[in-house]
Amino acid sequence: MAYLALYRVWRPQKFQEVVGQEQTVTALRNSVRENRLTHAYLFSGPRGTGKTSLAKILAKAVNCENQQDGEPCNICSSCQDINNGNFMDVIEIDAASNRGIDEIRDLREKVRILPAQGKKKVYIIDEVHMLTTEAFNALLKTLEEPPESVVFVLATTELHKIPSTILSRCQKYNFRRLTLPQINTRLKDVAKSNGIKFDDEALALIARRANGGMRDALGMLDQLYSYKDSHITREDVLEVLGLVDDLFVARLLDAVIEQDCAAIVDMLGTALNQGKEAGQLARETALYLRDLLLYTVVGEQAELVMAGEQSRTYLKKQSRKMDKNNILRALRMIMDTGEKLRFSESHKFLLELVYLEMAALFGPPETNTGNTVPASPGHKTQRGKSEKPGKVDRADRNDAREVLWNRLLAGVKEKKIPTHALLSQGKLLGTKGDTMFIGFRKGYKFHKERMEEKGNREIVDAVIKEIFSKELDVQFIFFEDKQYNDMVVKKAIEYFGEDIIDIKD
Ligand SMILES: Nc1ncnc2c1ncn2[C@@H]1O[C@H](COP(=O)(O)OP(=O)(O)OP(=O)(O)O)[C@@H](O)[C@H]1O
Ligand SMILES: [Mg+2]
Ligand SMILES: [Zn+2]
Repeated sequence: MAYLALYRVWRPQKFQEVVGQEQTVTALRNSVRENRLTHAYLFSGPRGTGKTSLAKILAKAVNCENQQDGEPCNICSSCQDINNGNFMDVIEIDAASNRGIDEIRDLREKVRILPAQGKKKVYIIDEVHMLTTEAFNALLKTLEEPPESVVFVLATTELHKIPSTILSRCQKYNFRRLTLPQINTRLKDVAKSNGIKFDDEALALIARRANGGMRDALGMLDQLYSYKDSHITREDVLEVLGLVDDLFVARLLDAVIEQDCAAIVDMLGTALNQGKEAGQLARETALYLRDLLLYTVVGEQAELVMAGEQSRTYLKKQSRKMDKNNILRALRMIMDTGEKLRFSESHKFLLELVYLEMAALFGPPETNTGNTVPASPGHKTQRGKSEKPGKVDRADRNDAREVLWNRLLAGVKEKKIPTHALLSQGKLLGTKGDTMFIGFRKGYKFHKERMEEKGNREIVDAVIKEIFSKELDVQFIFFEDKQYNDMVVKKAIEYFGEDIIDIKD
């Protein structure tokens, strides 16, 4: 027998088997029991929450030969035929695949013909928002003068796309996202009855990621089951679904809050090297920040999507250190980056940039006066010294410079550690046009000269190309703290003015 996806095997066949949607289930079941059906129902709500399932249960219940207490028996020939899709009087129309005009025209012609097989004709129109205007108009005509023995069930995920003329002729039911415990319980039942062993945290992870959709939850379980039918662990779930470990994101956020730039660059590098996708990382960070925001506002009761048991401890700690507005800003930043990643080649750079920018967001105001050597990876960035007022632009610029410098150092480190050791004694002065200036203090002649050698220079060039997607001419120059006594530096100052150099691009 062909393998049937779990979500299909586990389609509820009776009102009683439907998880959640209590009000809808009760109302429908009562109207069957008391024979108070209306002509048109509209089911709206998120994907995989039971709309089509309930439409079919309703179709069975009204046609069942031994209907009991509003429930279909699932045994009589009507029930069985409906279950197998062979019942002439239950007509399913998928508005998504054919925009419907032919079907609706056909429907208008045949709708007045009495049921051939059963008691009522039931038209289930799925994804009804996809109908063309023409088809909607045709449908409206039918709804305006509904034939006696016909029931319409319209289902949609996008209620706002349904014309009000249609809405006003339907009895409306809103389907809700299923809760975590509801999904979790169902997953456990399904797993157990299929003999699938699992860690609780593995199923909890799936449940969280399903975002209230039962079909998605079962679909994920299916994917895992076909990968491994012995014992499903949390790691399996992460691996098979290509998810980023929430604990990893929690730790990464810790580094962001601590402004540990080196750790950030390091962790991102590791994740990407392990084959995680930049876009996925950005998405999961956004989810985590969403959880953090929720936790900050709601506290322990928050229903979290990303954070599992272990990362809750992080969340708790972090929520005390961050304020709502900054979390929102960070969320916006990471979402913007998510967009940019789709159109960019320099994934790593964009990702690092946004995390380092977030770090800047959470830190005390920037105090770098432009003359201190920026911290190199391996040290935390220096912040929290005295700040001169009115230097905001410059602080921003220093931030950007620091981000770029850290990125450059990290890139070089990845290619060759000795080169990194040399370069990290320098300082990025800035770029102008197609030239980048990297300064060394006088005592670092050895470092400067080594960096000027072909091998080392090529490494820097390569990293710059990765960052900017173009080549820059790199000049290594001397500077001695406030004393710009090197010819080249003097030139640079003539060029850019005292207020050293801007980073563009
Ligand atoms: N409320 C629910 N209770 C139990 N199982 C459910 C429920 N909702 C969805 N499922 C599971 O998900 C599968 C798909 O559900 P269904 O087709 O009813 O969703 P839907 O709301 O129509 O989704 P879509 O909007 O994508 O068409 C079902 O076969 C069942 O396995
Ligand atoms: Mg459906
Ligand atoms: Zn029956």
